[in-house]
Amino acid sequence: MEPIRYRDDIEVPAPDEEATVRRIVERMGATQAQNAAHHRHAHRDAHAKSHAVVKGHLKVHEGLPAELAQGIFAEPRTYEVVARLSSAPGDIHTDEIPAPRGFALKVIGVDGERLSPELGGHNQDFLMVNFPTLAFGTVNKYEDMLDILEKNAGNPAAAQKAVAAAARGVEKLVTGLGRKPDATVQGLANDNSHMLGETYYTQAALRYGDHVAKMSIAPTGEVAELTGKDVGDEFDAMRTAVARHFMTKGASYEMRAQLCTDLNEMPVEDAAVLWDEETSPFRTVATLTFEAQDVYSPARRVAGDDELAFNPWNGVEAHRPLGSIMRVRKAAYDASSKRRHDMNVVERREPESLADIAD
Ligand code: HEM
Repeated sequence: MEPIRYRDDIEVPAPDEEATVRRIVERMGATQAQNAAHHRHAHRDAHAKSHAVVKGHLKVHEGLPAELAQGIFAEPRTYEVVARLSSAPGDIHTDEIPAPRGFALKVIGVDGERLSPELGGHNQDFLMVNFPTLAFGTVNKYEDMLDILEKNAGNPAAAQKAVAAAARGVEKLVTGLGRKPDATVQGLANDNSHMLGETYYTQAALRYGDHVAKMSIAPTGEVAELTGKDVGDEFDAMRTAVARHFMTKGASYEMRAQLCTDLNEMPVEDAAVLWDEETSPFRTVATLTFEAQDVYSPARRVAGDDELAFNPWNGVEAHRPLGSIMRVRKAAYDASSKRRHDMNVVERREPESLADIAD
């Protein structure tokens, strides 16, 4: 099937969306401020715990067909990248509690019209989590999830379980409507697998030049052998496993695009709907490589946690984030990063090259 062409009217905001977005951002901000008071240091509103900050390269493949040679993947070239690996909760919990894992990728020095010129720089961020869908895939469902998190704030393990249970309810709803069930439920109930062996997804859709896509990275070579390997359950088990790997070895991933071929079957407004890979497979567009390095030196940790910010809206128009959950993220990431940088008295800066990020 042919990929659909991007049009501005693909997105259909809900009539009361602005008010919902305002409430979500305020509530998340209050939790962030509370956590900052507790730690005497501000962290991210989500994905607060980092496991590694890794420098590498992204090589766009030669000879891509026209529908894949789009946006920053239009020409075969190699970009510098920096990635921050994290766990999803907005506070720093022990790795004994299973949590979704984050892979935030910053592609440095891309060309094209900027989505948010006020953020400065010339970089393209792709934020990915190790499940293909987001169970709370619209702003309204996301607000429901905040209720659960806030009610269980004192008990992170219970909060994770409650969110997983609620996600199961969402799954039933989604299945009942004749959609494919989402994978988040399975993941939340899951394990402590080595995060370098996981496959990561943008979950929500984005513009892919003339088309619309979801992006993903999948491990290859030696990190593919880590898929499903348990890292144990100490407080810092994940950071230890990732840092140990990078002391002697590198890592590589295929970056892939799944093009939307049917807006009814593959909607952009609800990130809980799985796009069927049989209808439209993920197709490789670039290779991501990281050499062996010290990924959690004190300088790297400060660069990743305090200085850098990753944001789906930090990028080019050719990769505009699409749909309800992407629109709420614009205000949410701006507010979280601003509060974090202000409270820690650290300047937010976009790197111009890898040399700008300390080792
Ligand atoms: C499509 C689903 C989503 C994905 C794949 C995703 C992924 C991520 C990742 C990987 C990070 C860590 C970034 C880093 O390392 O700096 C992050 C941070 C964050 N996420 Fe999300 N996220 C999603 C949805 C949301 C939603 C719906 C909200 C809020 C309404 C949200 C709020 C945040 C905030 C506030 C941060 C911290 C930003 C900062 O202070 O720099 N995310 N997200």
